Order: sequence, then structure tokens, then C-alpha cells
Amino acid sequence: MIQKEYHFKYQTFASSEELTDDDRLLMEEARAATSKAYAPYSNFNVGAAVLLSNGIILSGANQENASFPAGICAERAVLATVSSVYKNVDIVKMAISYFNAEGSSSEPITPCGICRQALAEYTHRSGHAIPLILGGMVGEVWVVPDALFLLPISFSGKDLKKS
Ligand code: THU
Repeated sequence: MIQKEYHFKYQTFASSEELTDDDRLLMEEARAATSKAYAPYSNFNVGAAVLLSNGIILSGANQENASFPAGICAERAVLATVSSVYKNVDIVKMAISYFNAEGSSSEPITPCGICRQALAEYTHRSGHAIPLILGGMVGEVWVVPDALFLLPISFSGKDLKKS
């Protein structure tokens, strides 16, 4: 038997003021994108912003539906937009923010499982790590250097070729 372990490192910052200029700007875009959420059912408003290698920043927000499973998370909304508008332009990094029904948020959230899977696919497509910058509207910010860290030993296109 071989026992394997999985560890990863990520950075925590007391506030977005401690981030690099690029990361702080992207977090501000994610925070602004929360205003585009359509979340009448959960009242949980999520914004995601992506920096592209051509310097453009795109953002998206969760879009809910009365048929709950038809809703889409902010992360996948912006990933689909990136790929549709700039098909072969690389994603450099993504920032994610939110506010809840009380209108506040001071702790980071991490992407849901489906979004982790979607981020894994975009990571494989781009051929490099996609860092995630995670924070509420105020307070602590986490930087996870590679979205794949959040989905270890994940399923990918390579598995479809296994026999
Ligand atoms: N949501 C996101 O947009 N991203 C996440 O990573 C977690 C959850 C949305 C989905 C739903 O509209 C609401 O937040 C509550 O789950």
C-alpha cells in the first residue's frame, strides 16, 4: 500500500489593501459585478472578474432561475463569456466576491464544486495555473495560486482516453 497526501499553499491578506495593484483592481471588479447578480431566490449575490492576457477584464454574476438547477454561478457565467467573446485568449486570473441577504460579507467564499470542475477545464485549455483571488466586499482576502488546488485528482479530458 502506498499512502499519498495532498497539500497546498495559499496566501491570506488582512484586506484587499494588501494585494498587488493588479489583484486589488480585479477584486474591485468582482465586487462591482455582484450588483449584476440575479438572485431573487437565494439573495446570495456573487460576482466574478477575469483578467485576460490581452489586458481586458470581463465580469459575470450568478443568474438564478425559478427552476433552480437552471441557474448558473458567477464563475461559470464569466468563463462562458470569456470563451464566447475571446475564444483563444488566455485567462490570467479570476477574482470572486459576494454579498448575502443581509447585504454584507467579510469572509472569502470558495467556488462550488461544479465551478471547480469548470475552472479545471479552462486551466487545461490554457495550459497554465489560474490563480483565484477570493474575498467578501470587505475583510480578509485569500489568494489560491492555482484553481486546480481546490479539486485534487480531478476528472478531466485525459480520463476519457483511459482504457
Ligand atoms: N453561487 C455562485 O455564483 N458561485 C459560487 O461559487 C457559489 C454559489 C451562487 C449560486 C446561487 O445563485 C447562489 O450563489 C446560492 O448558492
